[in-house]
Amino acid sequence: MSRRKQIYEGKAKILYEGPEPGTLVQYFKDDATAFNAQKKAILDGKGVLNNRISEFVMLRLEEIGIPTHFIKRLNMREQLIKKVEIIPLEVICRNVAAGTMAKRLGLEEGTKLPRSVVEFCLKRDDLGDPLVAEEHIHAFGWATHAEVDEMITMTLRVNDYLRGMFGGVGINLIDFKIEFGRLDVTMENGSVAHQVILADEISPDSCRLWDRDTDRKLDKDRFRRDMGEVTEAYTEVATRLGILKEANNVHAPNLSVVSNDD
Ligand code: TYD
Repeated sequence: MSRRKQIYEGKAKILYEGPEPGTLVQYFKDDATAFNAQKKAILDGKGVLNNRISEFVMLRLEEIGIPTHFIKRLNMREQLIKKVEIIPLEVICRNVAAGTMAKRLGLEEGTKLPRSVVEFCLKRDDLGDPLVAEEHIHAFGWATHAEVDEMITMTLRVNDYLRGMFGGVGINLIDFKIEFGRLDVTMENGSVAHQVILADEISPDSCRLWDRDTDRKLDKDRFRRDMGEVTEAYTEVATRLGILKEANNVHAPNLSVVSNDD
């Protein structure tokens, strides 16, 4: 790997300085963490799969007019992205009760919600990413009213699209988490404005995906709950979406992938 300046290292990804100003390289690691990084493992090939799945999803979302940070995939583990100022909120959208919502509200996991619900959590690992109300977001200035409205609108559009996309390959989208960033945009009069765009990743690390017929979990809950066959499940998601040529190509990093450029 060439010597590049590392900007940030997270639990599952590393950000490097990009080749041009305003760009970064996002590297997907095989590291898996859960429960605020108390549980850790290396899952061979997870980074390769998430790089591919996130690329696929971001490109589809761009096609329907959702602005994202994705520019292009560079290789098996890296993608070129736009540099943004990350809004310090995790935006969660839920269709079916699971995880913390099921616990918090005493709902049986798998209960269909009356409608899709959008929640905000503060991005603070040291506090365990606490759920926050819009009041907190405004009072503490984490995002403006307009930004919150844009995030909610975009999240619901992402949800509608992803439900259809996964539904088409026999997968129920239970919930997911996305993050947004502020991109500097120079206006015609030379002034600089912020545009809110989708950032981070969308992958089985950040979604709950259940097989429609069997409710088999195809996401990070397999790791959180010690269910085994984690990369196999991620591979199945990629295969169903048509990203992998064959279901048995799970032995990453030499994954055989459908590709024009590698
Ligand atoms: P949630 O049920 O709130 O938390 P947990 O994953 O701890 O049970 O998660 C809802 C969805 O959002 C789920 O698909 C996992 C995803 N998520 C993340 O990817 N990262 C996070 O930090 C949080 C809080 C959720």
